Amino acid sequence: MTNTLDMKIKRFETIESLQSYLDSVRGSNKSIGFIPTMGALHKGHIELINKARNENDIVVSSVFVNPTQFNNQNDLALYPRPVEKDIAMLEKANCDAVFTPPVEAMYPDGNNLLNLDLAGLDKVMEGVFRPGHFAGMITIVHKLFNVVTPRNAYFGEKDFQQLAIIKYMVKQLNMPVSIIGCATVRETDGLAMSSRNIHLTPEEKKQAPVIYNTLNACIDLKNKMNPDQLQHFVKTEIEKSGLFKVEYISFVDAINLSELKDWNSSESQRACIAVTTSKTRLIDNIAL
Ligand code: PAJ
Repeated sequence: MTNTLDMKIKRFETIESLQSYLDSVRGSNKSIGFIPTMGALHKGHIELINKARNENDIVVSSVFVNPTQFNNQNDLALYPRPVEKDIAMLEKANCDAVFTPPVEAMYPDGNNLLNLDLAGLDKVMEGVFRPGHFAGMITIVHKLFNVVTPRNAYFGEKDFQQLAIIKYMVKQLNMPVSIIGCATVRETDGLAMSSRNIHLTPEEKKQAPVIYNTLNACIDLKNKMNPDQLQHFVKTEIEKSGLFKVEYISFVDAINLSELKDWNSSESQRACIAVTTSKTRLIDNIAL
């Protein structure tokens, strides 16, 4: 265990040290709440910690920039890594322990990925634009669950497709963990908080709320337009400033993520979007 002076939070860099800590605190029937992250923490992450703190005896987070889920090496290289600041934020949020393993600890034999049929959930939206992303993501989440053995694990709705895929994996593999989805935390102007927002230029940051505002407008416009027409509207509206390019705008069933042909074909509908900017890529979604 390594620790910064005067901190209550315990930091572990090896699987063995984390597990021996967990064995010592778990006792009889103590629940572990787990929040995996890639660091560069913001209020969205901290909300997950707060919820876990309210619902569990022991709260564990991880900060690990998972190389296998990056399809773009530049994106991996640019990913912010302010680890000490992250640990201080976790400490302030009363997180009990943080796991910060080196890559070799999580991938002892190179990039050996979990091969699980995701029933097409990984073939749409992010799956089209980030090939291999979800195979890397489920691999690390599966590995982290094995290491931490949480009773509850917390994920943001911000990454809606990721949340749907994790729920599916846990169900298919009978993993003894409850997956808890948490609402997207936004800036006051509506922009979804993201570790990637630091790569927005000042002008892009100013204009970025158009993404959430346009998604919200869909709730009413659904009564006047079919999904095709509404897709066209969203794309035009968001690209108007010349700063953003819409990669996809999809209206999908919230469970199986299949694209809606008309508004009657699903009871629970979600609008999901990905937008590229000069240096980064933003995603967002809302319930329709
Ligand atoms: P990361 O992007 O760091 O996100 C960690 C968790 O925080 C995810 O569950 C994500 O959905 C949630 N989150 C991010 N921004 C949020 C916001 N604005 N509001 C609410 N929740 C938000 O997602 C990952 O890391 C990785 O894929 C991971 C699951 C850790 C696997 O490597």
